Amino acid sequence: MWNYDKKLEYPVKIKNKDLNMAKFLVTQYGGPDGELSAAITYLNQRYTMPTGKTKGLLTDIGTEELAHVEIICAMVYQLLKGATPDELKAAGLGGNYAQHDNAVFPTDANGVPWTAAYTSTLGNPVTDLHNDMAAEQKAKSTYEHLIELTDDYDVKDVLKFLWSREVIHYQRFGEALMSVYDLVDNKKCY
Ligand SMILES: [Fe+2]
Repeated sequence: MWNYDKKLEYPVKIKNKDLNMAKFLVTQYGGPDGELSAAITYLNQRYTMPTGKTKGLLTDIGTEELAHVEIICAMVYQLLKGATPDELKAAGLGGNYAQHDNAVFPTDANGVPWTAAYTSTLGNPVTDLHNDMAAEQKAKSTYEHLIELTDDYDVKDVLKFLWSREVIHYQRFGEALMSVYDLVDNKKCY
């Protein structure tokens, strides 16, 4: 069960419309290494973690990734706000307008819709935590690319916050991995 705070984890107050940046940034909503993929992955994996502490960690981080989904959606919405169909078409978002108007929809930066195939749950805690550390590194690299793609302080500031959370999550998953090694039978030999 969750308690819902009616505010973002980090404030988003973008003043300037930037359709190109919205097109790039949406990948952190509906792309393979985005926040939605991470949230669903961790909230699925929590059930097969071997200890209360690791179940709790996956639930905590999965929940925070949902908060990051909310932040990314707010950013995309603000970057698109007031855009005309002609402006959207010129930015390569004509297809988005045709299907969704100016609404936010989970796709990658090339408009490919989100799929559950972007998530990963193998059931082995060692395997899953390795996946999660890689997922955090991939999200971190994507944020670095996005930071390079904008000069807008209001956008960069939020991206830097999200980048810093990926670093922390990577460290927490690393600690969890060390704690489960001895609890899982990884000595099978075929
Ligand atoms: Fe993360």
